[in-house]
Amino acid sequence: MDYKELAQKAVKAKSKALPPYSHFHVGAAILTDEGKVYLGGNIENSSYSLTICAERVAVFKAISEGERNFKAIAIASDDEGFCSPCGACRQVLNDLCGPELEVIMINNKNELKIIKLSELLPLPFGDDKLK
Ligand code: THU
Repeated sequence: MDYKELAQKAVKAKSKALPPYSHFHVGAAILTDEGKVYLGGNIENSSYSLTICAERVAVFKAISEGERNFKAIAIASDDEGFCSPCGACRQVLNDLCGPELEVIMINNKNELKIIKLSELLPLPFGDDKLK
């Protein structure tokens, strides 16, 4: 699957987001090494801090289905700019997918920006400190 196609899946996932407080819809599509795709949308909560981002919904769905190896994640919002993963999601993606993960952002003009997670999260804290 090419990254344009993955980005379109993130756009589709955005339609299932549930952000009644911010009204900021985000969709994510994560691609496994074997070519499977898992989708996620952000889900907000009336206790605001319990909100979960689209990226974490997608990766947790995949992990809970037994997936362990990931190639890329695409992220879409309705914003004219690119929706870059928040700090919490960068940490989670680094732990579960590794620093080589490709992060594909798509704006509302269908333009792509592609960057490695290691560029978004330099000098990460990781499980190497916990052994
Ligand atoms: N959000 C995401 O789902 N992913 C991001 O990369 C940035 C922010 C969500 C969280 C919250 O529901 C809304 O966007 C506004 O912060």
